Amino acid sequence: MRLRGKSALITGSARGIGRAFAEAYMREGATVAIGDINLEAAEKTASEIGGNAYAVTLDVTDLSSIDAAVKAVEARAGSLDILINNAALFDLAPIVEITKTSYDKLFSVNVAGTLFTLQAAARSMIARGKGGKIINMASQAGRRGEALVAVYCATKAAVISLTQSAGLDLIKHGINVNAIAPGVVDGEHWDHVDALFAKFENRPRGEKKRLVGEAVPYGRMGTAQDLTGMAVFLASDEAEYIVAQTYNVDGGQWMS
Ligand SMILES: NC(=O)c1ccc[n+]([C@@H]2O[C@H](COP(=O)([O-])OP(=O)(O)OC[C@H]3O[C@@H](n4cnc5c(N)ncnc54)[C@H](O)[C@@H]3O)[C@@H](O)[C@H]2O)c1
Repeated sequence: MRLRGKSALITGSARGIGRAFAEAYMREGATVAIGDINLEAAEKTASEIGGNAYAVTLDVTDLSSIDAAVKAVEARAGSLDILINNAALFDLAPIVEITKTSYDKLFSVNVAGTLFTLQAAARSMIARGKGGKIINMASQAGRRGEALVAVYCATKAAVISLTQSAGLDLIKHGINVNAIAPGVVDGEHWDHVDALFAKFENRPRGEKKRLVGEAVPYGRMGTAQDLTGMAVFLASDEAEYIVAQTYNVDGGQWMS
């Protein structure tokens, strides 16, 4: 068990990739806070996972909610050793149709949410004096632009940049900040993405999802389970010397 005795908070882990991370961390011996804006779903997930998983209400766009979640983790588990900044929103539109509302929503969850949850976790880790591990969820979308995906791509490029700056600033406290950049990962999120592509590219539902899967060099879309190995590794003692990096776990989509 590579995370025995560690306390983790995973944002947006009521479902999808975050949930798979929570399950993997549990298997590795960690206590896991399922932090999500959807408390009911988080509670259901925590009870389904069982063991040392518990739900914490968390809206990453609200500083007082972030503070309360970190305090809840400290109270329940005694410390916060690992944070995964996983919560994010997606939207899609041609440049001339992007709305300020969509822009604000994506930047407040994906960028401000990542930064200020990271900040609160780092303050807690620094006060305890035993270091920690912070993992941000980036994306292949942060590596380059996409015609219809300008805002989401920009938020994920910002996550990669924040990972670099925070990684360089926090390593002196023994806090490793790194990121994972998935490619296309099957799940409820992609049902939403597929529906948006169907609308803007005038396609039948399901076609975009099939095409992106076929285009992956590995030969299929990723699954949440494909990402758990990297998430466990980056949270473990084995990743001690890894600082400010973003790792592609994408079946060969992007090389950098
Ligand atoms: N699925 C993919 O293809 C893919 C690809 C690359 C990167 N990613 C990234 O991986 C991460 C997880 O993706 P997913 O597909 O599992 O997403 P998802 O949409 O399935 O799950 C996101 C979770 O975040 C929660 N959430 C939303 N707003 C929140 C807020 N303000 N505060 C707290 N929680 C909030 C939702 O309730 C949900 O449980 C995201 O950062 C995403 O950008 C996903």
